Order: sequence, then C-alpha cells, then structure tokens
Amino acid sequence: MTSGANFGIHSGYSHPTLREWQQPNTSIGPSNLMYPIFITPDVDGEVEIASMPGVKRWGINKLVTHLKPVVDNGLKSVLLFGVPDETVKDEVGSAADDPERSPVIPAIRVLRKAFPDLVIACDVCLCGFTSHGHCGILTSTGHIDNDKSTKRLAEVALSYATAGCHIVAPSDMMDGRILAIKTSLRQAGFGNKVSVLSYAAKFASCFYGPFRDAAASAPAFGDRKAYQLPPGSSGLAIRAVDRDVSEGADFLMVKPAMIYLDIIKTAKDRHPQLPMFAYQVSGEYATIINAAKAGLYDLDVALSEVLVALRRAGTDVIITYFAPRILAKLNQDKAKYIYTSSIIS
Ligand code: PBG
Repeated sequence: MTSGANFGIHSGYSHPTLREWQQPNTSIGPSNLMYPIFITPDVDGEVEIASMPGVKRWGINKLVTHLKPVVDNGLKSVLLFGVPDETVKDEVGSAADDPERSPVIPAIRVLRKAFPDLVIACDVCLCGFTSHGHCGILTSTGHIDNDKSTKRLAEVALSYATAGCHIVAPSDMMDGRILAIKTSLRQAGFGNKVSVLSYAAKFASCFYGPFRDAAASAPAFGDRKAYQLPPGSSGLAIRAVDRDVSEGADFLMVKPAMIYLDIIKTAKDRHPQLPMFAYQVSGEYATIINAAKAGLYDLDVALSEVLVALRRAGTDVIITYFAPRILAKLNQDKAKYIYTSSIIS
C-alpha cells in the first residue's frame, strides 16, 4: 500500500520557517524561565561558588543591582534559596522562618519593592537550616518523622507567604506536605494568593552535588534515599506526581531535568491541565558549562538544544542558572524566542 511516508520526510526542512513548523511548542521566551538565586545572610555578600562557575550567593544589599539588568532583559520569575550561617542551624531548622536569621524573608521584601512585577517563588525545605542537613525532622533513632516534618514545612511556607512571596515550592519530598501547606495557606487567608509548586518527582541524584556546596546543605550523615526517588523508578515517580496533584499542587516539577525527559513527558501527558516545571540542577549547569570550557561545543548552541528538548518533552517552565545568559542572548539577538532552527546549524 502506498502511504505518504513513502515520499520521505526530508522535503524543504532547510528553510528556517519550515524547520520551526516542525518543532511546535519548543520556543523559549522569558515566561519559560525561572532563575534560582542563593541568598547569604552577609548583607553585602557576593560569594563565588567554586563548583558553579558564574553563580554566586548574594547578600540582600547586592541583590537588586545583580537582578536589575536581568529583569530589564525580561526576567519574570525567581526561586529563592536561603543559605544561613552554620551557627543558626538546629535539629528542627528553626531559622528557616525567623526573619532575623533566615535571609529569605528580608529578600522577599526587598525584591517585592524593587521589582513589583517579578514573580517570587521560595524553595521550602529544612536541609539548609538543620544541623543534620536532612530535609525533614528526625526521630530519636535518626529516621525522618514524616508528620512532624510536614507540620514544620507548612509553618515555613506560611511565613514566606506572609512575607509576600507568590509561590512556595516544597522540595523535601515528604508525604502529605502539599496538603499540609495548602491547608495552612488557605486557613491563613492566602488560599487564592499563593500557589504551590511541588517538587513532585525529585530523584536522588548526584547532579545536586554542586548545589549542596552552594547551599551548604549536604547531609551530615546518611543520604536522602529514604525520601528521594531511585533514578530508575518510573512507576514510583508517577505515583509521587499523582499524589501531589491529588493534594492540590498548582504546578508540578521534575528534577533533575535533562536525564528525566521520559518522566516529564509522562507526567505532562497525564496532567496536561497543570503547568510543568523542570529544574536544570546545579550538576547539569556545571556539566554543560565545563564541557563548553573544555572546547567540546559552543555553550549557547548546546544550551539551546537542551532547552528545546526540555520543551519538546512537555516542560512549560525551565528553572535554570543560565536564565541571565539566555535572556541576554534573546535580547542581543533581538529575538523574542530561541528556536532550534535559528541557533543550531
Ligand atoms: C534541597 C534541594 C536540593 C536542590 C534544590 N532543593 C538539593 C538536594 O536535595 O540535595 C537541588 C538544586 C540544584 O542542584 O541545583 N531541598
């Protein structure tokens, strides 16, 4: 039987417009990007992170100057991580929601004032604030106490909401935390003001290594395998996604991004009504940048191929440390969007 396929598929794809038409929904514009930022309590701080070339921890007096040109280039949203002093860490992460000791709360206020249109998301987790470096509260035998942890996470989320953020993003992976956070937000009158971006499918990944350096949040003992997903698990990952949807998540996230495209695709196909985020994590950033430095490829070409692949898999918003670079590139090219056809030869 003769079918269209017998005529081949290589007709005319060297024309940029025809190439674009063959890549629907893969454009990258400012609203497809969220920029993660580390905040240090030293208000004038500007601290290099050895494992993440070009990424720094910022003190709140430096934040606005750092972000101004990025916002001018179109930045629409940020994801804040507080990196407190070692001395304030304790068993339950009390500093996470203490305005005197958590650098996140003053940063929310400063950013709301300086950039009224910027969407501010806050990572909600305990690992940066606990003495043991785990993402929840531990029992006396050193295991996660799930219910105590979700209660504490909901308190932290509420304090960030009260300080004025638009989105809280729990990254701890405890069971029931989305429901606990949604409930406490609603009871406090933030039900229709603050959204919950769930780190729904978060894998136990070596690609977080540079982040733990950046956020000083490596576990003091053990690892996070009790609450982060095994890399080969697809069924469990989808159950985690379904769990968070049923608990009321407003946005979903898969993390890391590049090696979990199948999970992004399955989760998006299953829940097309929810915007899908992918976190291009610290190790992905470091890998892409170091390979470019080693001369293996051109950084912007490689980056645009990765971004387009994330979009193709079903990602709506990419959380990336490259956001300032991508936005500068879009501006410099006077391009509204990056398409594979315009950047990749
Ligand atoms: C922890 C958290 C991690 C990241 C975001 N939130 C690391 C971890 O689970 O160890 C990783 C981000 C990155 O690697 O860029 N709550």
